[in-house]
Amino acid sequence: MVKVTYIAADGTETIVDAREGDNVMQTALDNDVDGIVGECGGAMMCATCHCYVDEDWRDQTGARQAGEDDMLECAADEVKPSSRLSCQIRLTHAVDGLVVHLPRDQV
Ligand code: FES
Repeated sequence: MVKVTYIAADGTETIVDAREGDNVMQTALDNDVDGIVGECGGAMMCATCHCYVDEDWRDQTGARQAGEDDMLECAADEVKPSSRLSCQIRLTHAVDGLVVHLPRDQV
């Protein structure tokens, strides 16, 4: 299992145990975490899985995948250097303990 902490815009924290190999978006949906919509199911055809990777985890999660920048232009909330499409962040042991912040709006 890989632990992930989701911090909502209002500061509410939700900590879940994720299956290794899943992504941050699917894990949020599977655990009823508010603030992630994931409208396209991870096909990188929406930006409703937008999240901000906590500063302490940016190196471990790596750079944006090809195409993420284009989709993030459609994000409903502010795009920051830490912005990622959460469906593109794969959960491995290297990111056990990952913290992501959720934007106020996804649509
Ligand atoms: Fe649509 Fe991530 S779920 S881009």
